[in-house]
Formats: sequence, structure tokens, C-alpha cells
Amino acid sequence: MTFDARKVITDFPILSRTIRDGKRLVYLDSGATSQKPSVVIDAESNFYRLHNAAVHRGAHQLAEEATDAYEGARAIVADFLGATNNEIVFTKSATESLNLIAYAMGNAQPGNRFFISASDEIVVTEMEHHANLIPWQQLAERTGATLKWFEVTPDARLDLDSIDSVITEKTKVVALTHQSNVLGTINPLAEIVTRAHEVGAVVVLDACQSVPHMPVSVKDLDVDFLAFSGHKSVGPTGVGILWGKEAHLNELPPFLTGGSMIENVTMTSATWAKAPKKFEAGVPNMAQAVGLGVALKYLQNIGMQSIFEHEKELTKYAMDSLQQITDLTIIGPTDLNLRGGTLSFTVGDIHPHDLGQFLDSQGIAVRTGHHCAWPLTRKLGVAATTRASFYLYNTTEDVDALVEGIRSAQKYFG
Ligand SMILES: Cc1ncc(COP(=O)(O)O)c(C=O)c1O
Repeated sequence: MTFDARKVITDFPILSRTIRDGKRLVYLDSGATSQKPSVVIDAESNFYRLHNAAVHRGAHQLAEEATDAYEGARAIVADFLGATNNEIVFTKSATESLNLIAYAMGNAQPGNRFFISASDEIVVTEMEHHANLIPWQQLAERTGATLKWFEVTPDARLDLDSIDSVITEKTKVVALTHQSNVLGTINPLAEIVTRAHEVGAVVVLDACQSVPHMPVSVKDLDVDFLAFSGHKSVGPTGVGILWGKEAHLNELPPFLTGGSMIENVTMTSATWAKAPKKFEAGVPNMAQAVGLGVALKYLQNIGMQSIFEHEKELTKYAMDSLQQITDLTIIGPTDLNLRGGTLSFTVGDIHPHDLGQFLDSQGIAVRTGHHCAWPLTRKLGVAATTRASFYLYNTTEDVDALVEGIRSAQKYFG
């Protein structure tokens, strides 16, 4: 059962504003950041209005309320992912979550299962966002480990024919995206996770484009670490999530050190609190975490399966319509079973930046460029693409506006 997106729209104040001289806002850039419902905006501001105090510290009522709200948000995130509370670390973004794992592994000493040395291998894929590529490049550079990757096939899938030579007995980490932010490809995780675990490697999943859009259970996926961002999940900016299996988080050395993450401190040394505190040094992003809790509850109330189905229907409608446009090429799988609601395309010789600007003049917000996945666009042989990304508040009228906008752009640019 899907839901009525037209009703959902009324929950998002920004979607009723007009743009570019009174035009209806057609927001097709949720892959970059989602819009926020009033309940999330209110939750963040109410935290400051009513409960603001440093969590886990003060001996007063406000501190108690703030701590309850913050830890309550952690419980919501855990429930959302099918995890336990101690496995949820609040960070400032998915980028920070991914850097945290890579840096923490770099801090591991011999004897720790996460210790990486020059004889080890780190595996990524050609379709990674820079946030899940560069931290691993850097870790390889710091440790001397070898960086390897799965290539992308011409039909926009990971080339798993090479799985046994890419993931070997030397592999320590396999870091990959669940759903590509450029191609929309949803990666087949089971085969990769099985092979990685066979050789004793851990799997780090960049779930930025999946957790907000489909049911995701860390138990079912059986990955080892997972990252996503609050702001793409109708939540606030400034908050991301790192999920990790509890034993892994407790074995991993810390990334940032300071207040709140310690067990004992002397003038010359310190020992660490257990996870998740070990990874939350300093006064955390409390209001944002609370806002994220409300955001995930909001999504849960609508139903992640319903959101997934809604986006699938919209993607089908969009692909059918876009494929009618002369010279338009979809960059990504055309098989709906292999993809989510992120649609990249090129239109003849029109430069994506020109197309994006033209669409913007019609009130249509899309993203253009390499989408922070430069090696991928290079591999695909395109300098840039235009990307429309759908979410629960988009409708077929939005798709119609996009199609109409592209046709007008074709006329305009000749
Ligand atoms: C697949 C993917 N990974 C990582 C990120 C980084 O997320 P954030 O900017 O919220 O840290 C993004 C953001 O676009 C993304 O799409």
C-alpha cells in the first residue's frame, strides 16, 4: 500500500513556496539533501526552547531532559535499523562516519583485528561517492596497504565476475555503496558480504542513498559497519549515523579524543569508555540528533516499504516518459529491479550545467555535475550528468514538469 504524496507535501513547509518569479517549486534534488517536515523543524527548535543542556553531564533537570531526548533518539535510530542502542554512534555526517572508521582503523595497533599493514588490501568500487573513496585511499596511503576496486560494467552494475580476484585472503575491508548516488544502481550485497566474511574482511556499507528510501535491516544485510546522513532522511543537517556491530565498535580504537569518551584519565594516559561513548567526544550535536529521531519516526509512520514502492512507481513513470525524449540517454540501469529513484541522464549536446540552469528557470531543482563521484563519471565517458532524485513528497506532476522542462530546453538550445 503506498500513500498519498499530495498529502505528504503539506507536511513540508518549503514545498509550498514559489521560486523564480512565482513558479511552483519542483524539488528533484533529494539525493543531495531532503526537505524537512514541520515536525522535524519543531523538534530541533523545541530542544533549544525547552530542554537545552549538555547531555550526560549536568546534575540538573534540563540535563536530565536533554539526555533522555538524546538517548531516546539513539533508541529510535537503533529500532529503525534493527540494531541495538550501543551500536549507534552520532556523528556530524555520513562523511564523518566513514572517515571515523578509516581513521580508527589507521590507529589500530598490531594484535587488534583492525590493524592494517602494507601486506593488506582494501577494496572499494568504482561507483563510490568521494566520501567512501578518499578516506580509504588515504588509509591505504598511510598504511602502505593496496587499494583495489570492483569495476562498473557498461550496464551500470558492479562487475562481480572478478569477485575472487578482487576480494582475496589479504582483504581487510570492503567498503561499498548500497545504492549509487549517480546511477541509482542497488548493489547485490549478499554475494559480496559472503565472500568478504569468508576471507575475514569487514564490510562497510555507505547507505546514504538507501536508508532514507527503503527498509534497511543491519541484521538482514549482515554488514559490519553502515553510515548514513540525517539530512537526506528528512532530518536536520549536522547529524550522521555510524552503525557498527557492538564487538567491532568496542575493539576499534577511537578517532577523536577528549571529554565524554573516557573511562579513566591521568596526566599521561587515558582509557576509553565503551561504544558508543568512545566515539562521541565532546558535547554532541544534541538538537540535531533529537531532530533525526523525529525524522525517522515520521518515515516509519508512513512506512519504509511504502516509500520504496512510491519511489519505484515514480521512477517507472519517469523512465517511461524520459525515454520518449529524443537524444536523452539514461545513465544507469533501465531494469527497475536493479535500481532506486535516482535518475541520471544526458540530453544530446546540451551541457548538464546549461540544462540545470534552464530547468531552474522553470522552478525545477535538479543536480548537475560529477555528483562527487568523479572516477565513475570518467569511467562512463561523460563529463557530467543531470540528476533527478525522487522522494516521498514527489508526484507524477513533478515528473511531467521535468519532462516538459527538458523538451523546452531542447527547443531553447536548438
Ligand atoms: C552515496 C553517498 N555517500 C556519501 C555521501 C556524503 O553524505 P554527507 O554529505 O551527508 O556526509 C553522499 C552525499 O551526497 C552520498 O550520496
